[in-house]
Amino acid sequence: MITLFLIALLVSSIPFSFADPDPLQDFCIADLEAQPSINGFPCKPASSVTSDDFFFDGLSKEGNTGNVFGANVTAGNVRAFPGLNTLGLSMNRVDFALGAVNPPHIHPRSTELVLVIKGKLLVGFVTTGNVFHSKVVTRGKLFVIPRGLVHFQKNVGKGKALAFTAFDSQLPGVVNLPLTLFGSTPPIPNDVLIKGFQVDEDVVKGIKSKFGN
Ligand SMILES: *[C@@H]1O[C@H](CO)[C@@H](O)[C@H](O)[C@H]1NC(C)=O
Repeated sequence: MITLFLIALLVSSIPFSFADPDPLQDFCIADLEAQPSINGFPCKPASSVTSDDFFFDGLSKEGNTGNVFGANVTAGNVRAFPGLNTLGLSMNRVDFALGAVNPPHIHPRSTELVLVIKGKLLVGFVTTGNVFHSKVVTRGKLFVIPRGLVHFQKNVGKGKALAFTAFDSQLPGVVNLPLTLFGSTPPIPNDVLIKGFQVDEDVVKGIKSKFGN
């Protein structure tokens, strides 16, 4: 009995967190001029906070999709919207031209909830067990991408598409796989990519050239 009680006590006291840590005050409007501290940004003085600090209109405009992927992510994270600092959430807008792909990427610090507003998106991710889960998602519907998994969205509709993505982090971070692997600074050595992907040097050089390396 006592052993059970002790185990229960131990388990319930193990600290855990699914997303960003809980805030310790009502809000903390980020002072983006200051260096980030251990976690997040320092707060600007409460005396200078106004209602505008809780408002963000940065997701109201369509992004320019005139790039190779045909997709444009407008970020509504703490860097764009300082009022999110310490609150543990953020939202992006993603615009898709016809046939666009938001290429395979990872958010190291957040789960992602995709809400389609317009059009038809194929949304998919791969588990750590290498299982691919995907769904064609249309207006008003949701798809969830668990934290840290490789995922993408592709416009499979007949026109433009629009989605909003919600995150349980103020700064989810993004690891864009094509750019990370083939466009890093300095570049990853070719022999690593040749062996890693089991392809010839020409292929590696060809892909690198698309991403500025
Ligand atoms: C996304 O759209 C914005 C606003 O039009 C533009 O400034 C930005 O360069 C675009 N990003 C990409 C990757 O095309």
